[in-house]
Amino acid sequence: MAKINFKGNKILITGASSGIGKALAVEFAQRGAHLGLGALPRETDLVASVAGDIKQRFGVKTWCFPIDLAKADGPDALYASVKSEMGDIDVLVNNAGIAFYGEFRDQPWEPLARTIHLNLHVPAKLMHLFIPHMIRQGHGLVINTSSVSALQPTPYQTVYGATKAGLQSLSQAVRAELMGTGVTVCTFNPPYTKTDILNKGGFPENLRWYAISGLKRPEWIAEKAVKAFEKGKFLYVPGFSAWLFHIVLVRFSPRRLVDFVSRYFLRGGSLTGR
Ligand SMILES: NC(=O)c1ccc[n+]([C@@H]2O[C@H](COP(=O)([O-])OP(=O)(O)OC[C@H]3O[C@@H](n4cnc5c(N)ncnc54)[C@H](OP(=O)(O)O)[C@@H]3O)[C@@H](O)[C@H]2O)c1
Repeated sequence: MAKINFKGNKILITGASSGIGKALAVEFAQRGAHLGLGALPRETDLVASVAGDIKQRFGVKTWCFPIDLAKADGPDALYASVKSEMGDIDVLVNNAGIAFYGEFRDQPWEPLARTIHLNLHVPAKLMHLFIPHMIRQGHGLVINTSSVSALQPTPYQTVYGATKAGLQSLSQAVRAELMGTGVTVCTFNPPYTKTDILNKGGFPENLRWYAISGLKRPEWIAEKAVKAFEKGKFLYVPGFSAWLFHIVLVRFSPRRLVDFVSRYFLRGGSLTGR
């Protein structure tokens, strides 16, 4: 993939009111990109203040789209609003996501179904809506916020990992189809990062894996990720140790060992006694 200059690009980021999405918005704005920021309607004030701050600091244009993407018509409503307010966009960042911690067999079904919908159905639908116009304009980039969870089994966050693995597969396959169109799809795959998704999803504070990798800062993740997108990387895992573990060791270790290590290190809270 060719090197990318984001200056003057119109970029839509879903889930931009907090965490990694907000940090990505700041990185893109620093490079002179104009930003559409998606958020839940209950975060209308918050996303407006993020947009106002970015506009003031970097002098770029901003638009806010407080739309619940989990609703059946959410992606279509976002697409229509973006078309009418921003016009054609250059970059779509599918970043909104949720996760719930617990044993698959014990978890209620509704949050799991919502996770599948928001983390996989919604980005697929948004790609399906935006990519045809990107092809017509002869250029475009889709960045999907995946996770290191896409790269190996994720016990106790089973459905979350499955949605990210699905998003990974979708991104790679659509990218292959789009060769020669000027449009491409890439993912970035953060390790555990200190954001609200972990609190909202009931992740235990003493997850064993944190003792090895710690929790990254969203600003650190976003800075490294945007530099990787500028270099045209297709799949980017921020940080050497995350890359070594999730890309190299997982690929070359026996599956039984990967299962055992994942099961051991992804336990925390009341599960540590099992
Ligand atoms: N944090 C990690 O350890 C980690 C690691 C790897 C990958 N990721 C991925 O990074 C992405 C961003 O997550 P984050 O860690 O930055 O957590 P976050 O701060 O909770 O961000 C998630 C964003 O998605 C939005 N969102 C949730 N449900 C939505 C809906 N129905 N409609 C529209 N927007 C919705 C949230 O809005 P509200 O704030 O209003 O809920 C929030 O802005 C996710 O895709 C996540 O899977 C996170």
